[in-house]
Amino acid sequence: MTDARFDIAHLARAELFSPKPQETLDFFTKFLGMYVTRREGQSVYLRGYEDPYQWSLKITEAPEAGMGHAALRASSADALDRRAKSLKDSNVEGRWSEDEFGYGKTFEFQSPDGHNLQLLWEVEKYVAPPELQSKILSRPSKKPLQGIPVKRIDHLNLMASDVTAVKDSFERHLGFRTTERVVDGNVEIGAWMSSNVLGHEVACMRDMTGGRGKLHHLAFYYGTGQHNLDAVEMFRDYDIRIEAGPDKHGITQGQFLYVFEPGGNRIELFGEAGYLHLDPDAETKTWQMSDIDTGLAVGGAQLPWETYFTYGTPSPLSLDQHVEKYAHFGPGAPDPSAAELTIPDEFGSLSPIEG
Ligand SMILES: [Fe+2]
Ligand SMILES: [Fe+2]
Repeated sequence: MTDARFDIAHLARAELFSPKPQETLDFFTKFLGMYVTRREGQSVYLRGYEDPYQWSLKITEAPEAGMGHAALRASSADALDRRAKSLKDSNVEGRWSEDEFGYGKTFEFQSPDGHNLQLLWEVEKYVAPPELQSKILSRPSKKPLQGIPVKRIDHLNLMASDVTAVKDSFERHLGFRTTERVVDGNVEIGAWMSSNVLGHEVACMRDMTGGRGKLHHLAFYYGTGQHNLDAVEMFRDYDIRIEAGPDKHGITQGQFLYVFEPGGNRIELFGEAGYLHLDPDAETKTWQMSDIDTGLAVGGAQLPWETYFTYGTPSPLSLDQHVEKYAHFGPGAPDPSAAELTIPDEFGSLSPIEG
């Protein structure tokens, strides 16, 4: 544990790129009940009904899906300066900016894998107009009467060519601790990192295709598993592509549902947040690949190799093309087309996953 612990408070916001901005906007407003707080140029800003700031999600029209950036809020102005200094002292390139609606001075840098990350302290708190004010004082706005509304942004999962480098950077410079990880021999396949008592604010998973700097998923919080069950019916009825779930992860014990928003980005709906890390010096729990079934889905849901372990955004292929190319990807499934893929050496040594 370092003196940086708790210098970062939480994930404040993220920007998603979408080649289908209207459909992506409809997904977050009609299905997930998010409020639009601003439109500017090719971007729309949104927030969930318990997000505390002006926006937690920015949707920007772009040729490809992907993550524009994600911003973590520091615990104080001094904490922000300390974290920026730590990055700069290690020769991580960064720059200060102040050009986003509803937020102040921001430090922009990249993860070791090339993800655009930001740190900030100054925020403009959201204040609802009278017709949207909730009688529940801890709630910045009324729960909307639309779709199955998410409360707030929850966490970020980065797909990376080198999980260890990303994890080390979050630990060293941002004071995160790794609550859980998955290893295959000496190679880290995934790491779940927390800046507070939640199981994770940021996770990182190995890109099995050898790609770098992609978004695996952005997650939004329900807080109860029933909403995931209601949401999956809604998505099924209205032709939103479902990847896996609802089920419960062993890792984090969070309840999950993964879908693809129409622009192509993977979105996770998070039911119960899972295990709270109140123990200040708890050890990192390390899962072996042999136990990955329990780690991924206690209830037996299958996270598909052709998408979950290979697809992130931006993707050079459409989701359908990707599924076709990677249909036979994964352990125990040798296939001529799989031989063309860049498969890390250690991946070839994985024992087949049951079921
Ligand atoms: Fe997640
Ligand atoms: Fe998950």
